[in-house]
Amino acid sequence: MTQPLIDPFQRAITYLRVSVTDRCDFRCVYCMSENMTFLPKKDLLSLEELDRLCSSFVRLGVQKLRITGGEPLVRKGIMTFFDAMSRHLASGALKELTLTTNGSQLDRFAKDLVSAGVKRVNVSLDTLDDKKFADITRWGRLPQVLKGIDAAQAAGLRVKINAVALKGFNDNELFSIQEWCAERDMDLTWIEVMPMGDIGNEDRLDQYWSLKDLRASLAERFTLTDLAERSGGPARYVRVEETGQKIGFITPLSHNFCESCNRVRITCTGEIFTCLGQEGHSDLRAPLRSSQDEMVLEDAIRAAIGLKPKGHDFDYSRQDVAGRVSRHMSHTGG
Ligand code: GTP
Ligand code: 5AD
Ligand code: SF4
Repeated sequence: MTQPLIDPFQRAITYLRVSVTDRCDFRCVYCMSENMTFLPKKDLLSLEELDRLCSSFVRLGVQKLRITGGEPLVRKGIMTFFDAMSRHLASGALKELTLTTNGSQLDRFAKDLVSAGVKRVNVSLDTLDDKKFADITRWGRLPQVLKGIDAAQAAGLRVKINAVALKGFNDNELFSIQEWCAERDMDLTWIEVMPMGDIGNEDRLDQYWSLKDLRASLAERFTLTDLAERSGGPARYVRVEETGQKIGFITPLSHNFCESCNRVRITCTGEIFTCLGQEGHSDLRAPLRSSQDEMVLEDAIRAAIGLKPKGHDFDYSRQDVAGRVSRHMSHTGG
C-alpha cells in the first residue's frame, strides 16, 4: 500500500492545483502587472511531464485536481492533457477534475471539457459592468466571458463565479452580482484580496473589503444560514434563505483557514508551493527529468510536503500590509 501524503501538521494532502501556463489573455490589476515577462517554452513542463507528475500525485492519494494558470485554456494542446487525466476519473482514483478560468475561452472548449469528465468550472468575474470589467482586467472584455459562461452552461457544466471583493470597485454590486448568479442558477464565492505581487501598500489597504463586513451587508437584507457543506476548497458556505442560493466566502485575512488546508500547488515549471502565502518552494522538474523511476519523483514530492508550513502570514491590521508575497498570483494560479 502507498502511504498517503501527510504534512508535518497532520494534514492529509488530497487536493492538487496545477498551473499549466503563466500566460493569460487578461492582465487583472491585482494579479499581474501590465508588462509581464513570460517564461520561455523550454522551462515549461511538457504535457507528458504534467501527466506524469499529476499521475504520481493521484497515486499518492490526491482526489481533486484543479487546473489553473495564468489562464489554463490558453495553453496549447491543453485538451489532450484533460483527456489524459480523465483516465483517473474512470479508475475512480480521482473524484474531481476541474479548472479555474477567466472564461474567455469557454465558448471554444466547454464541450471538450465535458467530454473529458469535467463537471463544474470556477469562473473569475468581479463585475458585471462592461467598463469596470475592462478596467480591472485591462485586456478582458465582458461580452466574451458572458458568451463563455453561456457555452459552459449549455454544455451542462455547473458554473461557480469567483469574485474578489474590492472596496470602491464592486461593493456597489454586492446584490446585483448575487441576483445575476441566482437567475442563472450559478453559485457565487467572494474572495478577500491577498497581498501578492508588486502592488503598493496603500492600494491593497484601500481595496481590502473584509468579508465580515460584506456578510454583514448581506445579512441586512437576507437571512443567512451557515452550511456545514464543503467543496474541498477553503470556501465556507451560507444559504440565503429567501432565494435558496448558496454563497461562499474565502477569508484568508479575516478568518484564517490554514488549519484545514488540504492542498499544494504546482507551477508550470514544476515548482511545488506547499503554501500560497509563503515564498518557500521545492523543485520537482529536476527529479522528473533526471529519471523515469517513479520512486525518485515520489521521494521528491514527499520531501516537499515535509516542508509544508503551518500557514500564511497575510495581515492588513495596523494600517500596514504584512506577510506579503512577492510573486504574482498568476505564478501559482490562486
Ligand atoms: P472549490 O472547488 O469550488 O471549492 O474551489 P476552490 O476554492 O478550491 O478553487 P478556486 O480556484 O475557486 O479558488 C478560489 C481562490 O481561493 C483561489 O484563487 C485563491 O485566491 C483562494 N485560495 C484557494 N486556496 C487557498 C489557500 O490555500 N490559501 C489562501 N490564502 N487562499 C486560497
Ligand atoms: N487576491 C485574491 N484573489 C486573487 N485572484 C487573483 N489575484 C488575487 C489576489 N491578489 C483570484 C482570481 C481568481 C483566482 C484564480 O484568484 O480572481 O478567481
Ligand atoms: Fe489572468 Fe486570472 Fe490573473 Fe486575471 S486573475 S490576469 S484572468 S490569471
